[in-house]
Amino acid sequence: MADIENNNDLTKDQNEEKEDIVTPWDVEGANDSGIDYEKLIKRFGSSRIDDALIERLEKVIKKPVHHFIKRGIFFSHRDLHTLLNLYEQGKPFYLYTGRGPSSESMHLGHLIPFIITKWLQEAFNVPLVIQMSDDEKVIWKDLPVEEGIRLSIENARDIIAMGFDIEKTFIFSNLCYMGQCPEYYKNIVKIEKCVTYNQVKGIFGFIEDDVLGKVGFPAVEAAPALSTSFPFIFGDKKRQVLIPCAIDQDPYFRMLRDVAPRLGFAKPALLHSTFFPALQGAKSKMSASNFNSAIFLTDTQEEIAMKINDHTFTAEGNVDIDVPYKLLTFFLSDDNELERVKNAFSSGQMSSAEIRKIAIDCLQPIVREHQEKRKLVTDEVVEQYMTVRKLNC
Ligand code: TYM
Ligand code: TRP
Repeated sequence: MADIENNNDLTKDQNEEKEDIVTPWDVEGANDSGIDYEKLIKRFGSSRIDDALIERLEKVIKKPVHHFIKRGIFFSHRDLHTLLNLYEQGKPFYLYTGRGPSSESMHLGHLIPFIITKWLQEAFNVPLVIQMSDDEKVIWKDLPVEEGIRLSIENARDIIAMGFDIEKTFIFSNLCYMGQCPEYYKNIVKIEKCVTYNQVKGIFGFIEDDVLGKVGFPAVEAAPALSTSFPFIFGDKKRQVLIPCAIDQDPYFRMLRDVAPRLGFAKPALLHSTFFPALQGAKSKMSASNFNSAIFLTDTQEEIAMKINDHTFTAEGNVDIDVPYKLLTFFLSDDNELERVKNAFSSGQMSSAEIRKIAIDCLQPIVREHQEKRKLVTDEVVEQYMTVRKLNC
């Protein structure tokens, strides 16, 4: 078998008692404290975002890094140093990320990669492509094709509401874009030609009864990481890509990193985040399939308060596993206030009820403001972002 990086990470190590499960479809920690991310770095063969890298990033962009990076929420990367070397030589990169539109509404966890992507787009002033993998959701879920496209558009509205620069951002639905751009399909075929069934089976754990679409899909998610999939943006130029995502998406790009050199491309660079926890505890990630596990962008103010009060796991004084505290590490950007909460809660001066209230006060305005911005995103605006066109970059 070819040298796919750590291609057997999904096969559980027989010698270990119980291992965290992290795949594009399942995230489940072996114990209550959640996923062991250090172990994951070793298993996946990625690199830790260390202080030296953060310092270098700050030097290049001449400003402090986003608190997601400073606090270790984005904790792992591939080839970021190479990307920065090129950038410093005046060779810009582009950003690629995506969303699998499986539900009408996105939840707070889905925002994490998009928040950092927006920050990166502004810090580096680079173009961005966003894949709506509606084909993926049609193949995996009980979803008709037309409904997949509709959900892509509804989810694109949420993404646009986050304020991406229309001059530098292209959003595409796989089901629609495939027929609009032969260069995209050509890249998919080139990738498909380089990867055997045994390899995708090793990486993704496919079984023989899986439908054909599942087996082919990894090439569809990988191909936008080749710049020639967007000739109207990059011409036929090969540009380095940076992909921000939660670490569950890494398998697709690990596969591509193996084949990219054979296709004459550099390996894609990646920035991996940890998971925004389910309200019931960090053992699993926030997921759209359970209403009470997640705070959705469509939730009312009362629903947010109810979910945090009634459904968050709290551990009196233990910030390592307390969910309201975890939520604050993602969304309370004020470092001093977070430190104050941490000290008060760990020393027992602050009760679970109090920390829940702080989490409610932090999240309610974020969701409310998002809903206000979303209302302004008309069908015409969505169409503009999703139109094949030249970007300003
Ligand atoms: P999807 O729609 O399940 O998730 C979209 C993005 O959000 C991340 N994510 C989370 N991050 C933090 N905490 C969570 N609880 C959480 N849940 C989801 C995912 O890792 C993802 O980055 N197949 C992809 C769509 C896709 C894509 C890509 C993603 C297509 N091309 C390229 C990244 C890069 C999907 O269905 O993601
Ligand atoms: N496969 C992802 C999911 O179902 C969605 C997705 C599609 C994505 N393209 C992406 C995520 C690019 C990150 C980057 O979870």
